[in-house]
Order: sequence, then structure tokens, then C-alpha cells
Amino acid sequence: MKRTLVIYKSKYGATQAYARMISEALGCDRIMVDQMKLFSQFGEYENIVLCLPIYNGLLAGINTVKARYYRISEKNITLFMVGLTDLASEAEIDRTVIASLTEGMQHKFRIFYAKGRMTYRSLMPLDKMAWNKWIKYLRKKPEQKLNETEMEMLNHSRDKLDYIDEASIQSLIKYIRSLS
Ligand SMILES: Cc1cc2nc3c(=O)[nH]c(=O)nc-3n(C[C@H](O)[C@H](O)[C@H](O)COP(=O)(O)O)c2cc1C
Repeated sequence: MKRTLVIYKSKYGATQAYARMISEALGCDRIMVDQMKLFSQFGEYENIVLCLPIYNGLLAGINTVKARYYRISEKNITLFMVGLTDLASEAEIDRTVIASLTEGMQHKFRIFYAKGRMTYRSLMPLDKMAWNKWIKYLRKKPEQKLNETEMEMLNHSRDKLDYIDEASIQSLIKYIRSLS
């Protein structure tokens, strides 16, 4: 198999958990986005798997990736996005892609999405505020317009939502294996 490197960013551990699952399933190396600055071995890898969480409609860590993009732009790049958006809300996921990636990246990257995790009491104050604002918005939405995940968000807004699941990485693993 071609050598693969997983590069990830995680604020509260959900994307890190996925990055670990992916690198263990592929038996490949894993670094954090912030390590891209000092990493000197990109030459050894042909495939890059970027694992990034979504915050307020944007991919966290993408600016660091963009600043170092010249170091990986020749490689096969796969993006694994982690959020809480309902799987059926493709338009919302697409909006994050468009807002976060350059057009060139949008065409080049193979993109996967999985649902992550949120534990209210672990959130830092600004994230708590943003989360509460989102919940307030959902409360105003007519009930028949809420999707399944949004209903769960309203019911568990002050405790924990955990969708981390090994099954969510399987199509990505299959794809990366097909590159060899
Ligand atoms: C303040 C805040 C904003 C968020 N914004 C979004 C969002 O715009 N879209 C989305 O799909 N998920 C959003 N999420 C959910 C996170 O992406 C999810 O909890 C993810 O698993 C976090 O990954 P991490 O623990 O690796 O940082 C948000 C979560 C918080 C706390």
C-alpha cells in the first residue's frame, strides 16, 4: 500500500478519536495539524488524510493547512470532516466545504463526513455561548422542520451527544486501500 499520513485537528477529542481509528486501521502514521510547520518527512508519503472538525460552519485547522499546502499539494488528499450536522443535510455540509476550501481543493480532495461528539460541560466559555445560541435558534424552528439530529440536540443540549462509530470510517478506509 502507498504510504499514508493522517493529519488531524481536534478541540475536544472527537476528531482525534477518529484520526486514531483511521491510522490504526491503515497502520499508518498520524500527526496534528500544528505539527505540519516542523514536519520534515512529507516526502515519504503519497496519501494524506486530513481529519478536521467543523465549528460554526468552518473547518477548524484549515488555515494552518492552507499555509503549508505547498508541502502536500502534489499528494493524494482525502478530507474527513467531523461535525454534528445530520447526515441527510448535504447542503449544510456542502456549505462548510465551500466556505473552508479553495476551489482547487474542492476539486482535488476526496471528501468524507462523519458525526462526532459534544459534551456540554467540557465546552470552553465561547463555545458554550455559540452552542447556546444555536440551541436558541433550533427552539424557534417549527418542530416539523427539525431533523432527527436537531431533535436530539434539543433534548440533550446540556449533556452529551455521542455519535462516534467505527462504522463511519469504513468507506474512507476502503477508498484509501483502493489507492494502492
Ligand atoms: C460551538 C460549536 C459549534 C459547532 N459548529 C458546528 C457546525 O457548524 N457544523 C457541524 O456540523 N458541527 C458543529 N459543531 C459540532 C462539532 O463539530 C462536533 O462536536 C465535533 O465532534 C467536534 O470535534 P472535536 O471534539 O474533535 O473538536 C459545533 C460544536 C460546537 C461546540
